[in-house]
Amino acid sequence: MTSPAADGDLPVHVTPSPSPSPSPSPSPSPSPSPSPSPGMTVGAGPTQSEGQSFFEAVGGHPTFERIVRAFYDGVANDPILRPMYPSHDMEGATERLTLFLEQYWGGPTTYSDQRGHPRLRMRHAVFHVNPEARDHWFSLMKTAVEGAGLSPLHQATLLDYLERAAHSMINTFEPTPEH
Ligand code: HEM
Repeated sequence: MTSPAADGDLPVHVTPSPSPSPSPSPSPSPSPSPSPSPGMTVGAGPTQSEGQSFFEAVGGHPTFERIVRAFYDGVANDPILRPMYPSHDMEGATERLTLFLEQYWGGPTTYSDQRGHPRLRMRHAVFHVNPEARDHWFSLMKTAVEGAGLSPLHQATLLDYLERAAHSMINTFEPTPEH
């Protein structure tokens, strides 16, 4: 775990480092070579061209919105999470999470323009985020991301971040309150 950001929040809104671009250097010669070129056969580089953000590479706004909508469809049927969310403003909740994720992954900064600094640990302090809530949150998000048709590398990158971010949001080990 890296040290917390200077503002005391956890590093869930640190700009991701640009993905490595170990673009294999194909042979400059157009003549077909009988032996496979090294570097072209093992694995595959990111399906992201240099200079392109992760946000753009996965399809921009429609992709993030699709993921967040699928996530909230799951929340609506989740006994642990549903009571925490504002039933009268699920559209607003959808927009806030979508904008945050878009901004985090290199898209427009609309989230911060509208809401200010994310300070997600602070914003979640009012919710009962115990390990059970984290597991439900991440499980729904995993299903949502897996349904979005991303490349395996993009999917793994996004899920890795979301899992760590969800863990960092835990603010209590008290059992889930009865409703
Ligand atoms: C670990 C379990 C989590 C729980 C139980 C949880 C729960 C909630 C709830 C109940 C809200 C209020 C909905 C609204 O009105 O917007 C909220 C807001 C939000 N959550 Fe979470 N959350 C969790 C994890 C995360 C993670 C991992 C992220 C980011 C990757 C995240 C990002 C956000 C954002 C951006 C908002 C809107 C903040 C605002 O601008 O007001 N949450 N969350």
